[in-house]
Amino acid sequence: MNILVTGGLGYIGSHTCLALLEEGHSVIVADNLINSKLKTLDNIKKIANKSLDFHQVDVSNEKSLETIFSSFPIDGIIHFAGLKAVGESVEYPLNYYYNNLVSTIVVARMCERYDVKKLIFSSSATVYGDNEAPFFETMSSLKTTNPYGESKAMCERILIDFARSNPSFSVGILRYFNPIGAHESALIGDSPNGIPNNLMPYLTQVAKGKLKRLRIFGDDYPTIDGTGVRDYIHVMDLAAGHVSALYNLKEGIHIYNLGSGKGTSVLELIQAFEKATKINIPYEIVNRRPGDIASCWANTNKANKELKWIPKRDLLTMCRDSWRFERNH
Ligand code: NAD
Ligand code: UD1
Repeated sequence: MNILVTGGLGYIGSHTCLALLEEGHSVIVADNLINSKLKTLDNIKKIANKSLDFHQVDVSNEKSLETIFSSFPIDGIIHFAGLKAVGESVEYPLNYYYNNLVSTIVVARMCERYDVKKLIFSSSATVYGDNEAPFFETMSSLKTTNPYGESKAMCERILIDFARSNPSFSVGILRYFNPIGAHESALIGDSPNGIPNNLMPYLTQVAKGKLKRLRIFGDDYPTIDGTGVRDYIHVMDLAAGHVSALYNLKEGIHIYNLGSGKGTSVLELIQAFEKATKINIPYEIVNRRPGDIASCWANTNKANKELKWIPKRDLLTMCRDSWRFERNH
């Protein structure tokens, strides 16, 4: 199949491009490099030993994106392009609503205009807000707490209406939990700009000595050890989930949780990291981070069954691969 991957040079997109190339698909990437680097393209080619097409375009610009559709026959689209930093979305909500909503509308329009019947969209566990874990796709109330999360919930609603009006199309909404890890080559991975907000990139920078110590945001949550519980999933397993979705999506609109289905606390993650890398992680307990919830993990039965997708990599592998990537950069 010819697959258009928007945001294909980003963290999850680059690993998914690799998974698609390894399955023998042709990959066309549309990315404006707002949060990625051209070097990632070379690294994907190097690992896969295959070529892929790259177009530096802003996906929210309909005219620019259409040039790709008028030049290549496209069989399916995986739409990763979007802005994803929660704090930044509070500061610049209009940028977030504009980029995330308009790019999704433009992509859906292209599907209609060029009769591309498979569309997969990157959503987030953030749309579950403070519902009680485990989270099921059937939980109907989307409780977002910031413009980033709200933009994802809005895109989901737009795509539901889009799919209803195009009943022969297959539209998949994938709600990711917490992706960590990197390709085992350590050539591609998560490299956020500036000081990281998310736990794993912060932790690996502490391990490297770039940051002094990890700050644990609260140890008084109603969890196993008082620290926040999340569902960490290896980015290569997440990438495989997109390939499974391409193969197994039925007509209509379908929502799937992509997570490991297991909850891990901050302290448990530190212990796993120390075990996997033999590096001691200094930390201190500080106040809770505003907006954080106590626990977030997925029920993944629907994706396991309908997409025939089972994540394979355990927490130690996730920690090992995250560290290898950081060490190499
Ligand atoms: P990322 O920032 O690494 O990748 C996104 C890519 O999209 C980047 O390469 C960026 O340059 C590109 N991009 C952004 N806006 C664009 C536009 N208008 N036109 C063209 N390219 C554009 O992020 P990621 O972690 O790979 O996330 C991919 C998707 O998954 C995002 O939509 C994100 O919201 C969603 N998601 C991510 C996580 C996570 O923890 N990483 C969790 C849940 C959902
Ligand atoms: C974040 C995003 C969320 C996104 C998710 C997956 C925020 C507020 N939310 O959530 O929208 O869907 O990533 O990418 O950014 N922690 C520390 N110290 C740190 C960093 C984090 O103790 O330096 C704790 C947090 O309190 C939390 C856990 O580690 O309990 C995971 O945090 P993080 O990696 O930021 O992910 P989420 O909070 O799940």
